[in-house]
Amino acid sequence: MDKIVVSGGKQLRGEIKISGAKNSALPILASTLLASGVSVIKNVPNLRDIATMMKILRSLGARISRQNTEIVVDTTDVRNFTAPYELVSTMRASICVLGPLLARLSKANVSHPGGCIIGPRPVDLHIKGLRKLGAKITIERGYIIARADKLEGNEIFLGGPFGSTVLGTANCIMAASLAKGVTTIENAACEPEIVDLAEFLNKMGARIEGAGTHIVRIEGVNELKGAEHTIIPDRIEAGTYMIAGAITGGDIFIKGAVFEHLQAVIDKLEEAGVKILKQNNGIKVTVPDGLKAIDVTTMAYPGFPTDMQAQILTLMLVTNGISIITEKIYPDRFMHVSELLRMGASIIREGARVIVKGGAKLSGAPVMASDLRASASLILAGLAAEGKTEVSRIYHLDRGYERIDEKLGRLGADIKRVK
Ligand code: EPU
Repeated sequence: MDKIVVSGGKQLRGEIKISGAKNSALPILASTLLASGVSVIKNVPNLRDIATMMKILRSLGARISRQNTEIVVDTTDVRNFTAPYELVSTMRASICVLGPLLARLSKANVSHPGGCIIGPRPVDLHIKGLRKLGAKITIERGYIIARADKLEGNEIFLGGPFGSTVLGTANCIMAASLAKGVTTIENAACEPEIVDLAEFLNKMGARIEGAGTHIVRIEGVNELKGAEHTIIPDRIEAGTYMIAGAITGGDIFIKGAVFEHLQAVIDKLEEAGVKILKQNNGIKVTVPDGLKAIDVTTMAYPGFPTDMQAQILTLMLVTNGISIITEKIYPDRFMHVSELLRMGASIIREGARVIVKGGAKLSGAPVMASDLRASASLILAGLAAEGKTEVSRIYHLDRGYERIDEKLGRLGADIKRVK
């Protein structure tokens, strides 16, 4: 299995380009199932999770091909309505075929995704929302079995103990697009990926208003048709490279990063002493006067994203103060902590909060990636550490970061992928 070997101590300099957003591309690819026809999706990152979604769509009967960053999906012959355990268990985002299959074929059997390494990940809100639209849903032998003769618009409130749900909102919007009548989703997720999905669906002929706010109104239509769309840049990839620039005291330009999608991350980095400049088609990152410790609490968008928690925590290791990082979306998402301790970090965990004592000398070590963003944080720590860090199990990284070793290498990092 491949490993990534990073030798720390190099300041990153230069320019890199951000790929299309994984978390936008996944539901958008799933939503092509709503129409019978051809859709062309551009700027799709080349990632393992995207390959998994392509396999799922193929298994449902879609014809799908990829050329560089463009994916063409022909959903004319989609008849199968089962997303099997073998595929769903490798990627939780597979759940977003549930709404489209139900709306298009009146039935869907989707393996229950269960939890994952970042903690329990229930889908009760997805099920609640689809039931409000008239679906009959049961859980049988590990599968979500959903049936509906005709979905009907309704009012849906999508709030759980940790706020709204991104993919739950996506599932309800997709299903409601083909329901009879009007659906109003209250407490909808506001993430830019939801806005991107709604824009694509509207191009397909849907009537969706309010995406990006907490109230989304969907007027159902009888039929959707294939459409063409370009995926937005990946804000989490951009944020991760911003921290790579900051942690090495570098000077980098992140081409394609959308300033408006990164406000909370930028706000916190500025508080920590990172200088961020909005430039034409990208963001420039420098650290003129050293870094300061800050406190961060993750929240739903537009708050600080949980998908950046491991990375900002790692940045705090190189400051000279104490930081408190609080996780409000996934209270167990701290697998990176034990690996960072192996590199000499000083971190105390108390439930959903960690106290980071910055300034401890980081030294390279063999470490193991446990999930996507935790893996990214180990690479970041490796960039700042003295000596060599070997990150194993990097298939997690390949799920969500397109050629991270090449991109960081181009900025001057001493990094290589070895067999
Ligand atoms: N939740 C429920 N019930 C539900 C659904 C969610 O209680 O039915 C809870 C979750 O357990 C969590 C919170 O609500 O505590 C938010 O979960 P959400 O449903 O919003 O997460 P998701 O839609 O499954 C997406 C991203 C994640 C990202 C989260 C939060 C995709 C493919 N995944 O997941 O991305 O962490 O939103 O922003 O869009 C990643 O890219 O590394 C990643 C994990």
